[in-house]
Amino acid sequence: MPTRKRGDLPCANHPGLAPQVEAASCVTRCISSGPGKGASLIKLVGVNKHFGPHHVLKDINLEVPMGQKLVVIGPSGGGKSTLIRCINMLERPNSGHVVVDGVDLMAHRAPVAKIRQSVSMVFQQFNLYPHKTVLENITLAPIVVQGLPREKATESALTYLDRVGLRDKADQYPAQLSGGQQQRVAIARALNMHPKVMLFDEPTSALDPEMIQEVLDVIIGLANTGITMIVVTHEMGFAKEAADRVIFLDDGNIIEDGTPEHFFENPSQDRTKLFLSKILR
Ligand SMILES: Nc1ncnc2c1ncn2[C@@H]1O[C@H](COP(=O)(O)OP(=O)(O)O)[C@@H](O)[C@H]1O
Ligand SMILES: [Mg+2]
Repeated sequence: MPTRKRGDLPCANHPGLAPQVEAASCVTRCISSGPGKGASLIKLVGVNKHFGPHHVLKDINLEVPMGQKLVVIGPSGGGKSTLIRCINMLERPNSGHVVVDGVDLMAHRAPVAKIRQSVSMVFQQFNLYPHKTVLENITLAPIVVQGLPREKATESALTYLDRVGLRDKADQYPAQLSGGQQQRVAIARALNMHPKVMLFDEPTSALDPEMIQEVLDVIIGLANTGITMIVVTHEMGFAKEAADRVIFLDDGNIIEDGTPEHFFENPSQDRTKLFLSKILR
Protein backbone atom coordinates (compact mmCIF):
# COMPACT_ATOMS: atom_id res chain seq x y z
CA MET A 1 0.00 0.00 0.00
CA PRO A 2 1.46 3.38 -0.93
CA THR A 3 1.96 6.02 1.71
CA ARG A 4 -1.05 8.27 1.95
CA LYS A 5 -0.32 11.76 0.78
CA ARG A 6 -2.40 14.74 1.65
CA GLY A 7 -4.75 15.66 -1.09
CA ASP A 8 -5.07 12.33 -2.86
CA LEU A 9 -7.84 10.69 -0.84
CA PRO A 10 -11.47 11.65 -0.53
CA CYS A 11 -13.07 11.82 2.85
CA ALA A 12 -13.86 8.31 4.09
CA ASN A 13 -17.16 9.53 5.49
CA HIS A 14 -18.20 10.99 2.16
CA PRO A 15 -16.74 8.81 -0.57
CA GLY A 16 -19.05 10.39 -3.12
CA LEU A 17 -16.85 13.46 -3.19
CA ALA A 18 -14.35 13.75 -6.01
CA PRO A 19 -11.07 11.98 -5.21
CA GLN A 20 -9.21 15.25 -5.47
CA VAL A 21 -11.24 16.65 -2.60
CA GLU A 22 -8.94 16.44 0.35
CA ALA A 23 -10.35 14.96 3.57
CA ALA A 24 -9.46 18.19 5.39
CA SER A 25 -11.85 20.18 3.25
CA CYS A 26 -14.73 17.93 4.29
CA VAL A 27 -14.59 18.70 7.96
CA THR A 28 -17.68 20.89 8.19
CA ARG A 29 -19.77 18.31 6.38
CA CYS A 30 -18.40 15.54 8.61
CA ILE A 31 -19.00 17.45 11.79
CA SER A 32 -22.54 18.27 10.84
CA SER A 33 -23.45 14.77 9.70
CA GLY A 34 -21.46 12.82 12.30
CA PRO A 35 -20.15 9.33 11.70
CA GLY A 36 -22.40 6.93 9.85
CA LYS A 37 -21.96 3.33 8.88
CA GLY A 38 -18.31 2.61 8.15
CA ALA A 39 -17.39 6.15 9.11
CA SER A 40 -14.37 7.33 11.05
CA LEU A 41 -14.77 7.24 14.79
CA ILE A 42 -11.78 9.54 15.17
CA LYS A 43 -10.76 12.19 12.71
CA LEU A 44 -7.88 14.61 13.10
CA VAL A 45 -7.77 17.38 10.55
CA GLY A 46 -4.86 19.78 10.25
CA VAL A 47 -3.84 19.30 13.87
CA ASN A 48 -0.90 21.37 15.09
CA LYS A 49 0.54 21.35 18.58
CA HIS A 50 3.29 23.61 19.85
CA PHE A 51 5.04 23.56 23.20
CA GLY A 52 6.55 27.02 23.27
CA PRO A 53 8.79 27.27 20.21
CA HIS A 54 8.69 23.49 19.71
CA HIS A 55 6.35 22.44 16.89
CA VAL A 56 5.48 18.94 18.10
CA LEU A 57 2.58 17.93 15.80
CA LYS A 58 2.71 19.28 12.27
CA ASP A 59 -0.55 19.45 10.39
CA ILE A 60 -1.66 15.93 11.29
CA ASN A 61 -4.49 14.39 9.28
CA LEU A 62 -5.65 11.01 10.50
CA GLU A 63 -8.87 9.04 10.33
CA VAL A 64 -9.48 5.96 12.41
CA PRO A 65 -12.53 3.93 11.38
CA MET A 66 -14.64 2.18 13.96
CA GLY A 67 -13.08 -1.12 15.01
CA GLN A 68 -9.62 -0.38 13.66
CA LYS A 69 -6.52 -1.43 15.61
CA LEU A 70 -4.00 1.28 14.92
CA VAL A 71 -0.43 1.01 16.15
CA VAL A 72 1.68 4.15 16.40
CA ILE A 73 5.41 3.65 16.15
CA GLY A 74 8.23 6.15 16.11
CA PRO A 75 11.33 7.49 17.80
CA SER A 76 11.24 9.00 21.26
CA GLY A 77 10.22 12.64 21.17
CA GLY A 78 8.48 12.25 17.80
CA GLY A 79 5.09 13.26 19.19
CA LYS A 80 3.36 9.91 19.77
CA SER A 81 2.12 10.66 23.29
CA THR A 82 1.09 14.16 22.31
CA LEU A 83 -0.87 12.78 19.36
CA ILE A 84 -2.96 10.39 21.42
CA ARG A 85 -3.35 12.86 24.26
CA CYS A 86 -4.88 15.27 21.76
CA ILE A 87 -7.56 12.66 20.97
CA ASN A 88 -9.05 12.97 24.45
CA MET A 89 -7.97 16.59 24.92
CA LEU A 90 -5.46 15.87 27.65
CA GLU A 91 -3.51 18.17 25.33
CA ARG A 92 -5.39 20.78 23.37
CA PRO A 93 -4.03 21.36 19.88
CA ASN A 94 -3.19 24.92 18.87
CA SER A 95 -5.13 24.49 15.65
CA GLY A 96 -7.07 21.96 13.65
CA HIS A 97 -10.02 19.73 14.39
CA VAL A 98 -10.29 16.66 16.60
CA VAL A 99 -13.55 14.92 15.76
CA VAL A 100 -14.54 11.99 18.00
CA ASP A 101 -17.80 10.18 17.41
CA GLY A 102 -19.02 13.06 15.26
CA VAL A 103 -18.19 15.80 17.78
CA ASP A 104 -15.48 18.37 17.07
CA LEU A 105 -13.74 18.71 20.41
CA MET A 106 -12.08 21.93 19.26
CA ALA A 107 -15.43 23.64 18.79
CA HIS A 108 -16.56 26.31 21.22
CA ARG A 109 -18.28 24.66 24.21
CA ALA A 110 -17.70 21.15 22.89
CA PRO A 111 -18.83 18.48 25.39
CA VAL A 112 -15.25 17.40 26.04
CA ALA A 113 -15.95 15.78 29.42
CA LYS A 114 -18.75 13.68 27.95
CA ILE A 115 -16.79 12.51 24.92
CA ARG A 116 -13.75 11.81 27.09
CA GLN A 117 -15.81 9.15 28.88
CA SER A 118 -15.95 7.19 25.66
CA VAL A 119 -12.19 7.47 25.10
CA SER A 120 -10.34 5.52 27.78
CA MET A 121 -6.61 5.73 28.13
CA VAL A 122 -4.04 3.36 29.60
CA PHE A 123 -0.73 4.95 30.53
CA GLN A 124 2.81 3.68 30.81
CA GLN A 125 2.67 4.24 34.57
CA PHE A 126 -0.51 2.52 35.70
CA ASN A 127 -1.72 5.45 37.85
CA LEU A 128 -3.81 3.34 40.21
CA TYR A 129 -4.85 4.90 43.52
CA PRO A 130 -2.56 3.20 46.06
CA HIS A 131 -4.95 3.62 48.99
CA LYS A 132 -7.90 2.04 47.18
CA THR A 133 -8.49 -1.65 46.47
CA VAL A 134 -8.47 -3.03 42.96
CA LEU A 135 -12.27 -3.07 42.92
CA GLU A 136 -12.50 0.49 44.25
CA ASN A 137 -10.04 1.66 41.61
CA ILE A 138 -12.16 0.14 38.87
CA THR A 139 -15.54 1.33 40.13
CA LEU A 140 -14.59 4.87 41.17
CA ALA A 141 -15.01 6.67 37.86
CA PRO A 142 -18.20 4.87 36.76
CA ILE A 143 -19.81 5.77 40.10
CA VAL A 144 -18.48 9.32 40.47
CA VAL A 145 -18.23 10.45 36.85
CA GLN A 146 -20.92 8.41 35.14
CA GLY A 147 -23.30 8.26 38.11
CA LEU A 148 -23.70 4.49 37.92
CA PRO A 149 -25.17 2.68 40.95
CA ARG A 150 -22.42 0.93 42.93
CA GLU A 151 -23.89 -2.56 42.30
CA LYS A 152 -23.88 -2.06 38.53
CA ALA A 153 -20.35 -0.65 38.53
CA THR A 154 -19.19 -3.56 40.69
CA GLU A 155 -20.89 -6.15 38.52
CA SER A 156 -19.20 -4.93 35.35
CA ALA A 157 -15.89 -4.37 37.19
CA LEU A 158 -15.86 -8.05 38.15
CA THR A 159 -16.60 -9.03 34.55
CA TYR A 160 -13.63 -7.00 33.33
CA LEU A 161 -11.42 -8.31 36.13
CA ASP A 162 -12.33 -11.76 34.86
CA ARG A 163 -11.33 -10.73 31.38
CA VAL A 164 -7.87 -9.63 32.54
CA GLY A 165 -7.59 -12.74 34.73
CA LEU A 166 -7.56 -10.96 38.09
CA ARG A 167 -10.95 -11.47 39.67
CA ASP A 168 -9.31 -13.02 42.72
CA LYS A 169 -7.38 -9.78 43.34
CA ALA A 170 -10.47 -7.56 43.68
CA ASP A 171 -9.92 -6.81 47.36
CA GLN A 172 -6.17 -6.35 47.23
CA TYR A 173 -4.28 -3.06 47.06
CA PRO A 174 -2.07 -2.10 44.09
CA ALA A 175 1.14 -2.48 46.11
CA GLN A 176 0.26 -6.16 46.64
CA LEU A 177 0.29 -6.77 42.88
CA SER A 178 3.11 -7.13 40.36
CA GLY A 179 3.61 -4.45 37.70
CA GLY A 180 1.99 -6.65 35.07
CA GLN A 181 -1.02 -7.25 37.29
CA GLN A 182 -1.33 -3.54 38.06
CA GLN A 183 -1.35 -2.73 34.37
CA ARG A 184 -4.03 -5.36 33.78
CA VAL A 185 -6.09 -3.71 36.52
CA ALA A 186 -5.55 -0.38 34.77
CA ILE A 187 -6.91 -1.95 31.58
CA ALA A 188 -9.95 -3.30 33.44
CA ARG A 189 -10.48 0.17 34.91
CA ALA A 190 -10.36 1.74 31.46
CA LEU A 191 -12.82 -0.86 30.14
CA ASN A 192 -15.24 -0.27 32.96
CA MET A 193 -16.02 3.13 31.47
CA HIS A 194 -17.45 1.18 28.48
CA PRO A 195 -15.40 3.24 26.05
CA LYS A 196 -15.76 3.34 22.29
CA VAL A 197 -12.02 3.80 21.92
CA MET A 198 -9.08 2.56 23.95
CA LEU A 199 -5.85 4.54 23.82
CA PHE A 200 -2.68 2.86 25.05
CA ASP A 201 0.50 4.87 25.55
CA GLU A 202 3.40 2.42 25.71
CA PRO A 203 1.49 0.14 28.10
CA THR A 204 4.38 -2.27 28.60
CA SER A 205 7.36 0.11 28.70
CA ALA A 206 7.48 0.34 32.49
CA LEU A 207 7.27 -3.42 33.01
CA ASP A 208 9.92 -5.97 33.78
CA PRO A 209 10.48 -8.11 30.67
CA GLU A 210 8.83 -11.20 32.09
CA MET A 211 5.57 -9.30 32.61
CA ILE A 212 5.26 -7.76 29.16
CA GLN A 213 3.59 -10.73 27.48
CA GLU A 214 0.79 -11.12 30.02
CA VAL A 215 -0.24 -7.51 29.37
CA LEU A 216 0.12 -7.83 25.61
CA ASP A 217 -2.03 -10.97 25.71
CA VAL A 218 -4.79 -9.02 27.45
CA ILE A 219 -4.57 -6.26 24.83
CA ILE A 220 -4.60 -8.81 22.00
CA GLY A 221 -7.69 -10.42 23.55
CA LEU A 222 -9.29 -7.02 23.66
CA ALA A 223 -8.40 -6.34 20.04
CA ASN A 224 -10.33 -9.47 19.13
CA THR A 225 -13.51 -8.06 20.69
CA GLY A 226 -13.76 -5.48 17.92
CA ILE A 227 -13.19 -2.34 19.99
CA THR A 228 -11.40 0.57 18.32
CA MET A 229 -7.85 0.88 19.62
CA ILE A 230 -4.85 3.11 19.22
CA VAL A 231 -1.69 1.67 20.70
CA VAL A 232 1.65 3.45 20.97
CA THR A 233 4.21 0.71 21.38
CA HIS A 234 7.70 -0.47 20.58
CA GLU A 235 6.55 -4.08 20.69
CA MET A 236 6.92 -5.02 17.04
CA GLY A 237 5.63 -8.59 17.54
CA PHE A 238 2.44 -7.14 18.94
CA ALA A 239 2.14 -4.71 16.04
CA LYS A 240 2.49 -7.56 13.55
CA GLU A 241 -0.04 -9.73 15.35
CA ALA A 242 -2.71 -7.29 16.44
CA ALA A 243 -2.61 -4.21 14.21
CA ASP A 244 -4.75 -3.56 11.15
CA ARG A 245 -2.69 -0.50 10.43
CA VAL A 246 0.62 1.01 11.49
CA ILE A 247 1.63 4.65 11.32
CA PHE A 248 5.15 5.91 11.81
CA LEU A 249 5.39 9.29 13.48
CA ASP A 250 8.67 11.14 13.24
CA ASP A 251 9.34 14.72 14.23
CA GLY A 252 5.62 15.52 14.34
CA ASN A 253 4.81 14.08 10.90
CA ILE A 254 3.11 10.85 9.88
CA ILE A 255 5.64 9.63 7.39
CA GLU A 256 4.40 6.09 6.85
CA ASP A 257 0.84 4.76 6.96
CA GLY A 258 -0.20 1.28 5.95
CA THR A 259 -0.76 -2.32 6.87
CA PRO A 260 1.72 -4.12 9.13
CA GLU A 261 2.93 -6.02 6.04
CA HIS A 262 3.63 -2.75 4.26
CA PHE A 263 5.30 -1.27 7.29
CA PHE A 264 7.59 -4.17 8.15
CA GLU A 265 8.27 -5.66 4.73
CA ASN A 266 8.13 -2.80 2.29
CA PRO A 267 8.21 0.63 3.93
CA SER A 268 8.36 3.45 1.44
CA GLN A 269 10.41 5.94 3.44
CA ASP A 270 14.15 5.73 4.12
CA ARG A 271 13.53 7.13 7.60
CA THR A 272 11.24 4.16 8.38
CA LYS A 273 13.79 1.69 7.04
CA LEU A 274 16.50 3.23 9.20
CA PHE A 275 14.29 3.09 12.28
CA LEU A 276 13.36 -0.53 11.64
CA SER A 277 16.99 -1.50 11.03
CA LYS A 278 17.83 -0.18 14.49
CA ILE A 279 15.02 -1.82 16.42
CA LEU A 280 14.73 -5.12 14.54
CA ARG A 281 18.35 -6.12 14.93
N1 LIG B 1 3.95 19.23 28.37
C1 LIG B 1 5.01 19.46 27.60
N2 LIG B 1 5.70 20.62 27.68
C2 LIG B 1 6.74 20.86 26.88
N3 LIG B 1 7.21 20.00 25.96
C3 LIG B 1 6.58 18.83 25.85
C4 LIG B 1 5.46 18.49 26.65
N4 LIG B 1 5.03 17.25 26.30
C5 LIG B 1 5.86 16.83 25.32
N5 LIG B 1 6.77 17.78 25.05
C6 LIG B 1 7.82 17.67 24.03
O1 LIG B 1 7.18 17.35 22.81
C7 LIG B 1 7.97 16.43 22.06
C8 LIG B 1 7.13 15.21 21.76
O2 LIG B 1 6.86 14.54 22.98
P1 LIG B 1 6.02 13.23 23.08
O3 LIG B 1 4.71 13.45 22.43
O4 LIG B 1 6.02 12.82 24.50
O5 LIG B 1 6.88 12.23 22.19
P2 LIG B 1 6.93 10.64 22.18
O6 LIG B 1 5.75 10.14 22.93
O7 LIG B 1 6.94 10.25 20.73
O8 LIG B 1 8.23 10.27 22.85
C9 LIG B 1 9.22 16.15 22.90
O9 LIG B 1 10.25 16.98 22.45
C10 LIG B 1 8.78 16.53 24.30
O10 LIG B 1 9.88 16.97 25.04
MG1 LIG C 1 5.58 8.98 24.64
